[in-house]
Amino acid sequence: MIKNQLHGDIFEIVMVNPPVNALAYPVRQGLLQAIIDAQTDDAVKAIVIRGDGQLFCAGADITEFDAPVVEPDLHVVVDAIEASAKPVVAAIHGSALGGGLEIALGCHYRIATPDAKLGLPEVLIGILPGAGGTQRLPRLIGVEAALDMIVSGSPIAARRAAEIGLVDRLASNEGSLGEEAIAFTRTLDAPRRAGDLSVEADPAVFEKVAADNARKIKGLDAPSACIEAVKASTTMSLADGQAKERALFAGLVSGEQAKALRHIFFAERSAAKIDGLPKDIALRPIAKVGILGAGTMGGGISMNFLSAGIPVTIVEMQQEALDRGVRLVRKNYEATAAKGRLTTDQVKNALGLLTPTLDFDTLADCDLIIEAAYENMEIKKEIFARLDAVAKPGAILASNTSYLSIDEIASATKRPQDVLGLHFFSPANVMKLLEVVRGAKTAPDVLATSMQLARKIGKVPVVSGVCYGFIGNRMLIPRQKNAEALLLEGATPEQIDRVHTSFGMPMGPFQMADLAGVDIGWHRDTDRIESLQDALCAEGRWGQKTKAGFYDYDDKRKPTPSAAVAKIIDDFRARKGVTKRETSDEEIVVRTLYTMVNEGALILEEGIAQRASDVDVVWAYGYGWPRHRSGPMFWAGQVGLTKIVADLGRYAAQIGSNFAVSALLKRCAEQRVPLDRAP
Ligand code: 3HC
Repeated sequence: MIKNQLHGDIFEIVMVNPPVNALAYPVRQGLLQAIIDAQTDDAVKAIVIRGDGQLFCAGADITEFDAPVVEPDLHVVVDAIEASAKPVVAAIHGSALGGGLEIALGCHYRIATPDAKLGLPEVLIGILPGAGGTQRLPRLIGVEAALDMIVSGSPIAARRAAEIGLVDRLASNEGSLGEEAIAFTRTLDAPRRAGDLSVEADPAVFEKVAADNARKIKGLDAPSACIEAVKASTTMSLADGQAKERALFAGLVSGEQAKALRHIFFAERSAAKIDGLPKDIALRPIAKVGILGAGTMGGGISMNFLSAGIPVTIVEMQQEALDRGVRLVRKNYEATAAKGRLTTDQVKNALGLLTPTLDFDTLADCDLIIEAAYENMEIKKEIFARLDAVAKPGAILASNTSYLSIDEIASATKRPQDVLGLHFFSPANVMKLLEVVRGAKTAPDVLATSMQLARKIGKVPVVSGVCYGFIGNRMLIPRQKNAEALLLEGATPEQIDRVHTSFGMPMGPFQMADLAGVDIGWHRDTDRIESLQDALCAEGRWGQKTKAGFYDYDDKRKPTPSAAVAKIIDDFRARKGVTKRETSDEEIVVRTLYTMVNEGALILEEGIAQRASDVDVVWAYGYGWPRHRSGPMFWAGQVGLTKIVADLGRYAAQIGSNFAVSALLKRCAEQRVPLDRAP
């Protein structure tokens, strides 16, 4: 866990805990002992601390947070490092995150490779830096820069860290870091402690940070605790400030929000793993990607690959549509560059990798082809039959369908083993989720290649089996059905949307319908009015695009409740013979959120999702489920499965005649086991 080595008069302490040198008990204990030993060893003039493998250190071992602390606590270790009478230098490569950076802050000097990342991401898992980070960082780099890092959780590059005084020296490269660190350390005569510095700030700074981040931090406990702790660094001694920090840390770490955020951290990582697939499976090389369809979706999908340096051929049927698609891709890149997130060279390079064409046969040299055409089975089957004739042997053939059966699409080819679904979410260049849909005949290496590629292009992949709507959209169905039924029974779009937004969703079911288009799936060739959707569409209320949907919209797309919609609902209610009644917020929760949990449990029961936490990842990364509630399945556990089953039973008659509570959900409730350990 700790490797010590003497290089002449410099004592090197190496943290060894693969894969990320997390500060589990043996590492903490080893570090503390090594620092103590070095104090009394006359052969030692100064000390270097570094990390083995890919990085310096990713911080505390997050898996330990559910159990009582085993001494020595990390802050004790950091204090001992800082108290060292001999100079201590942190030699940083890869990443120094959380407790890892706190160790480096306890060191007297820091040397880092230019591309190393330094950050305090604790806030992202619902806590704050608990080993002195909120006290030493502001003392070292000032309150504003420290708040920036601690409240956002975003790491900064070592070059920037050197500019603001967090890093004292940049090493030439990773290979020479060890030697350069030792040489640098040899030049140092005395310790220099961040804890000895003092820092001041105008109290208005703290209010400003809270106000500037108000939208992002709404409903979250950790960010305001971060601000409070940093404030303490300006008014208290190091020891008192640290005591305050620890008290705030203790309050957060055992709370519901931190538990939920830890859960989603590990859920995201386990979603990338496919049960039953050999670890060393050979992957198919993907050097070139073809995209069929240059619409909003096709264009967005292609940007993911272009940005990762993978050439893309994009195919359309009409020149005009192709030009429009390429223009949109260019516009999106230029907008990103204008925000300073890409350089002009990066934009030029990405666009240079794009080949727009009307010639379907150019797809012949692509290793992966993604179809992003209309959501229509006949069209998709035709395309896949054509692809079968053109694509090279071994090419992966993917459909971006959101609902349709991958097995049926695959049946249009003679190579169903090479076919799978890659369901991107809109806007495809932004949304992190990728549902990787495994057909009955999809080959294991096709699946494994797609999962790895997804991570390469910065997506969070989740495997889904074949069913209507896969994991995410399938769970929208009971939500939407019940939301519309509730309108007939007496609720308003505003009430239902408010219940969802105060829960933490970015928008409610009707705001979402208006954004996506109320007319999706509407049969405009008939004038039969069978649903509220038909009634709205028949009056041209197709959503934001016609400035009228479930809400009225002004020119800036600002919604207001609509009297016309209230009348449409009243008329439809009368035609259906439904009696208007009071509907409580609680009923809305049961019928639109608990029914989603139930659908998630059915998805699990049918083996469509590999694990309950995969369902959470889909909702957290694809639909904006509030991260501090993890995802619907984890949230269900916090609410209590027994309560959910009982409430669903109570409302069963209203939920729908063919509604059934999932057997798996009932079993978990009865046996009091969480959904991710379903019997
Ligand atoms: N504790 C425990 N396990 C961790 C961990 C941590 N801090 N960080 C990563 N891991 C595990 C992951 O779960 C994963 O396990 P698996 O292989 O079994 O799935 C493995 O290490 C590799 O992680 P990634 O897949 O994320 O590897 P990447 O190379 O993509 O990313 C990373 C590396 C950027 C370091 C990323 O893992 C990361 O961001 N880690 C978390 C950093 C963090 O939040 N640190 C703060 C911890 S809290 C703290 O320090 C409190 C202190 O103030 C007292």
